[in-house]
Amino acid sequence: MSGDATAAAQRFYGRWADLYDVLARRTPGLGHLRARAADALALDPGDTVVEMGCGTGANFQHLRERVGPTGRVIGVDFTHGMLARARNRVEREGWRNVHLLRADATDVEFREPPDAILATFVVGMLADPAAAVNRWADALAPGGHLALLDAAQTTRWFGWPVNRAFRGLVVASSPTGTDGYERAPWSVLDERVETARRALRERADETTHSEHALGVVRVTGGRIE
Ligand SMILES: C[S@@+](CC[C@H](N)C(=O)[O-])C[C@H]1O[C@@H](n2cnc3c(N)ncnc32)[C@H](O)[C@@H]1O
Repeated sequence: MSGDATAAAQRFYGRWADLYDVLARRTPGLGHLRARAADALALDPGDTVVEMGCGTGANFQHLRERVGPTGRVIGVDFTHGMLARARNRVEREGWRNVHLLRADATDVEFREPPDAILATFVVGMLADPAAAVNRWADALAPGGHLALLDAAQTTRWFGWPVNRAFRGLVVASSPTGTDGYERAPWSVLDERVETARRALRERADETTHSEHALGVVRVTGGRIE
């Protein structure tokens, strides 16, 4: 991500962190999709799972349930306001095995390789999503799992009215609106989401893929060789 894009993303998510938190936790059906993404990680009790771009921590409960009290959840995000909400949540719930790290998800390093990495609604924000997916795959313990949950335009035949609404949502939720994009932001998003999935499929020896919400939401998981 360029310095300008990083600053814009941090400003945007810092400003909207409270509203984002409500939408991230209360949007009907989203909890189910988060559970599907957590399932795609094939976690076992005692595992360590890293969530890249964890935001306000809407996935933590799903991850904690799967790694149990002996496992660890590490949330990484570069936006102070989002992490502050995540930290409040962790403290309020008394989750002692959830740790937060303010860092850039595209170049963060870990002392011990995690068993799994999750990124939900994040790769569409990255200038080079394939490089990020490859770095995350390299960081995993052998046989570890990587899962992505994202929204992009649907490719189904009845797609145009759905995609029209989706495009409005993309502009409203983009840190820079339509500024700074050489192409429409929804096309950039589609391409990044697909590029990340292609990179994941290339690195994985087994993959799972499911589509939801009329084909707008995709959950892809892979076991990294
Ligand atoms: C759309 S929100 C998704 C939050 C959370 N994953 C969820 O599903 O609710 C994107 C989050 O990714 C974070 N983010 C984007 N790019 C990042 C990067 N390169 N490093 C760390 N965090 C990043 C933003 O700060 C924001 O909190």
